[in-house]
Amino acid sequence: MAIVYGKAPGKIILFGEHAVVYGQPAIAIPVTKVKATARIYPAIHKSQGWLGIEAKDINLNTTLSELPTENPINMAISLTLQKIKPTHTPAMQLQISSTIPIGGGMGSSAAISIAIIHALSSFLGQPFSKGEISDLAYEVEKIHHGTPSGIDNSVIAYQTPIYFQRKRPIEFLKISKQSHWVIADSGESTPTLETVAAVRAQYNANPEKTGKFLKKIGKITEKARFALENGDIKVLGELVNENQQALRELELSSKKIELLIKSARRAGAVGAKLSGGGRGGNIIALCYEENIPSIIEMLEQAGATRVFATRLAESEVS
Ligand code: PMV
Repeated sequence: MAIVYGKAPGKIILFGEHAVVYGQPAIAIPVTKVKATARIYPAIHKSQGWLGIEAKDINLNTTLSELPTENPINMAISLTLQKIKPTHTPAMQLQISSTIPIGGGMGSSAAISIAIIHALSSFLGQPFSKGEISDLAYEVEKIHHGTPSGIDNSVIAYQTPIYFQRKRPIEFLKISKQSHWVIADSGESTPTLETVAAVRAQYNANPEKTGKFLKKIGKITEKARFALENGDIKVLGELVNENQQALRELELSSKKIELLIKSARRAGAVGAKLSGGGRGGNIIALCYEENIPSIIEMLEQAGATRVFATRLAESEVS
């Protein structure tokens, strides 16, 4: 049996984070410059059913039977095995690595699960479809997020820009003109579980006020879909800024996020906002291609810990 790889990109949410948990639409795109990789090969000197796990990035060197059942790696493996129900499981070694920043709102947890599920189902001769992979990864995501909307596992499993709304079929965006986004890590992070709970607390305390902001974000996302598909960068920039304003009102921003947003806009970004859970994590800045170098420089000077640009290319519409 040969070596099998499973690879999954990172992601950013362009519009609609948090509101998506409450049934509003959101837009997310894959980011292929960062990725999670799972590599599986036969462990020839071990007995049937043995599964070694190595993740050097997090100093993990163990076996499946030693990992707690609620560990996300264990869950991704166990859910895959439960679905396949193999009559015999060959001894195997799993190696996991990732260049996706942990806790930065770039989907690191979903990407790792997806890489594992993809590699393991292929290794066992029953490669799952993208939908099946996404569904299993969603089950694992519940450990990280509590009540995840499902946007992370969907955009990463399908590896294409999506318009996502809970309980509705996923829509794949048809981009007619490319756009450029600079992603900057604030170096601070708050678990998404916490920020989702903070919004829930605000909602429970004042459903009318909080609901108004969440609906506003939904409307911004609807408009953004058209601007994005038609390549209307100016309108898109305004919508990015409006979305950030609503996230501010929901108390999801931070001093560092605001500093990075201000720096990006001073250097020519058309719009900038936080992306993901907030209170840290990454900001994204929409920009014209010629401004990318100066925006990157300004963000680095402002203290971003990692900055890079990604391009949302035209879809190959057949
Ligand atoms: O994983 P993150 O930090 O990008 O956050 C996901 C987006 C949220 O809307 C905050 C949560 C969710 O489940 O959709």
